[in-house]
Amino acid sequence: MKAVAVFPGKPNSIHLTDLPEPSIGDIPDGRGILVEVLRVGVDGTDKEINDAEYGDAPEGYDLLVTGHESFGRVLEVGPNVSGLAPGDYVVATVRRQGSSIYDRIGTYDMTTDETYYERGINLRHGYLTERYVDDLEYIVKVPAALKEVGVLLEPTSVAEKGIEQAYEIQRRLKVWRPERAAVVGAGTLGLLATLILRLRGLEVTTLARTEPLTLNSELVEALDARYASTRRTSLKEAAQEYGPFDIIFEATGVSTVAFESMEALGKNGALVLTGISGGDRMVEVPGDHIMLGFVLGNKVAVGSVNANRTYFERGVQDMALSEAQYPGWLNRLLTHPVKGLENYKEMIRLLTEEKGAVKVFVEVNGRR
Ligand code: BGC
Ligand code: ZN
Repeated sequence: MKAVAVFPGKPNSIHLTDLPEPSIGDIPDGRGILVEVLRVGVDGTDKEINDAEYGDAPEGYDLLVTGHESFGRVLEVGPNVSGLAPGDYVVATVRRQGSSIYDRIGTYDMTTDETYYERGINLRHGYLTERYVDDLEYIVKVPAALKEVGVLLEPTSVAEKGIEQAYEIQRRLKVWRPERAAVVGAGTLGLLATLILRLRGLEVTTLARTEPLTLNSELVEALDARYASTRRTSLKEAAQEYGPFDIIFEATGVSTVAFESMEALGKNGALVLTGISGGDRMVEVPGDHIMLGFVLGNKVAVGSVNANRTYFERGVQDMALSEAQYPGWLNRLLTHPVKGLENYKEMIRLLTEEKGAVKVFVEVNGRR
């Protein structure tokens, strides 16, 4: 069976490979689910993996099958699987259980283990292949009405988790009623965070470098959110004009933005950092101002990575709500389809060169 893989540590090693067929018997206790892959989305993490900046091969392999944003259809289920049947549309979560207490209660996204296992990213093969098998714990059902946009569930789950962290933390305030939010970054994650915050009824300002009009700025405005270019309006100015921000959701991976967000955050506000800043850049920041503002304003900053199945389930609900409230909006994110696993070179090219791309995704199996 075909799969797209890299040799971790070797830049630009993406290639087509052959994998043995998975079977439900590979998963213990009759809990296996065999899934036919229909679509796989790609993002900056896949680019970094191909650039050999990130990712490791599973034990016993020198290659790693990539792709962590999956969408597929159940082919076969083990004897102890309930709630899922052949023909159901599904998405698989990404991280797999480690050994910390958090892993053992199903919150593997909160692991404190040094080593973490992520399908398509680190030490576990991903979904850019024809079929995969996994334990029922990691497979989330998607209603057929969402099949055209189901491939967006993984990035949606990451946004869901980040926002949920803010709400959980803010229970400290007893009467928290967030009214205004800023999202920094208008890529897939920033757009999905904008959507989720709008669905919660917040007034949202989404900031990104590029000046309008772009598809991204149009997508923000289609949610009745405000788009601002940081070339014209700094985050600080945006806070004065459109704030105070009760939530700032960072989705850029740029560390200077993290500190600017700390300054721009309103009193009692929560800052959620989700960008993966791969480098080792040193930055100069107004440390005294930021610290004073944090202390006198009772502010909070939290980092958030990955998502467990709870956030995938929440993502399904919000995607359904989105179709009711902003019909067709999610579909507009799916800008660049790539036909077939064989076209992995085109996939990487679009991911690195196509400035107008929101979501690049591979159509793995034609029939749906
Ligand atoms: C994935 C997450 C993952 C993170 C860190 C992101 O691209 O969407 O699931 O936890 O990378 O590896
Ligand atoms: Zn990702």
